[in-house]
Amino acid sequence: MSLMRILAIETSCDDTSVALVEASGHRRVQAKTGLIGKPRFKVIYNIVSSQIKIHRPFGGVVPNLAKREHAKNLPKIFGRIMNKELRIKNTKTKIHNSKFIIPAIDAIAVTVGPGLEPALWAGIEFAKDLAKKLKKPLIGANHMEGHLYSNWLSARSKKYEARSKKIEFPAAALVVSGGHTILLNMTSLTKWKKLGETRDDAAGEAFDKVARLLGLPYPGGPEIEKIAKKGDPKAIKFPRPMLRDKNYDFSFSGLKTSVLYYLRDSKNSHSSNRFRFNVAASFQQAVVDVLIGKTIRAAREFGAKSVLLCGGVSVNKFLQKTLRQKSEEAGAKFFCPSFEYNTDNAAMIAAAAYIRHQQKKKLRLSAQSNLNL
Ligand code: KG4
Ligand code: ZN
Repeated sequence: MSLMRILAIETSCDDTSVALVEASGHRRVQAKTGLIGKPRFKVIYNIVSSQIKIHRPFGGVVPNLAKREHAKNLPKIFGRIMNKELRIKNTKTKIHNSKFIIPAIDAIAVTVGPGLEPALWAGIEFAKDLAKKLKKPLIGANHMEGHLYSNWLSARSKKYEARSKKIEFPAAALVVSGGHTILLNMTSLTKWKKLGETRDDAAGEAFDKVARLLGLPYPGGPEIEKIAKKGDPKAIKFPRPMLRDKNYDFSFSGLKTSVLYYLRDSKNSHSSNRFRFNVAASFQQAVVDVLIGKTIRAAREFGAKSVLLCGGVSVNKFLQKTLRQKSEEAGAKFFCPSFEYNTDNAAMIAAAAYIRHQQKKKLRLSAQSNLNL
């Protein structure tokens, strides 16, 4: 067993996050399978500073504004973590640096993609500078691998809860965020086949666009979920794009257009709350039906023992509840990270960086906005 203390940085979109995570697991890499044993992660700090209020008036994230805010927030959050660490009595070995005293850190990790290029650079530049000052290795991490491995993070209150022990393979993993909708068949922690992904809009993007059509603020996902609770999901028959297709790809842009036409054709009813609640509930039901239909079909086809849900959209309680129920009906255990690890955060970046580091699979330390799984 090897233990690594990783300080991770995440700035791919509109959340600035810094985390300190203790990672452990077997160091040995099995050449054939690429397995590295069962990793364990203890999240010591995971601080997130959201920029939603700054971007909200623009109806979406403005890349250069995000970069400026990240550059402003990073030293503050890093400073907060260092102060917290120093206040803890009997901390582990302290390293003396010419400028400041810092607790032991073995490596620094940073998201290199996918994401908004200027935003990614803010994190990379800060991380490079820090790694140089502290004379520590810098590990590049893939944001989507972060979402995937957030399923292996345990709640901060429970010391080393061996959550990963319960995740068995094969596993069907649905990664749903603002920019991606990906379905994987994982045969091990590090081996997977991408079964399908979105051909146009991601699920989160569809939530955001439909929210805007309904006059709801950015980000739209939580707003739609909130008002959908008061509506009837069967009120409007929106299409379930590609649900019946044999492949595992998704498409949400046509569904968004259906909502647009529906709103245009029922102009006079717009002002009624009931009308908006029903549109939100029926739209959410359509998205969830497609996501779940495909995931469960994959779980059955590949004999999944586990179903994993992750990414910003998986905060949605209706999606979580329905997928849990359908997974259990299909004989698979259901996993979904807690709220703080589902939305963008640096703890998941530490996890992804650790697994890459153990596999000795390095990523280039420059912004790669189109990186994928
Ligand atoms: O993973 P994430 O925080 O950032 C990206 O990597 O993209 O995902 C953000 C996306 C946004 O599109 C947001 O509207 C959506 O996740 N989202 C939700 C909910 N909360 C956030 N979608 C549906 N229901 C929610 N409760
Ligand atoms: Zn994300």
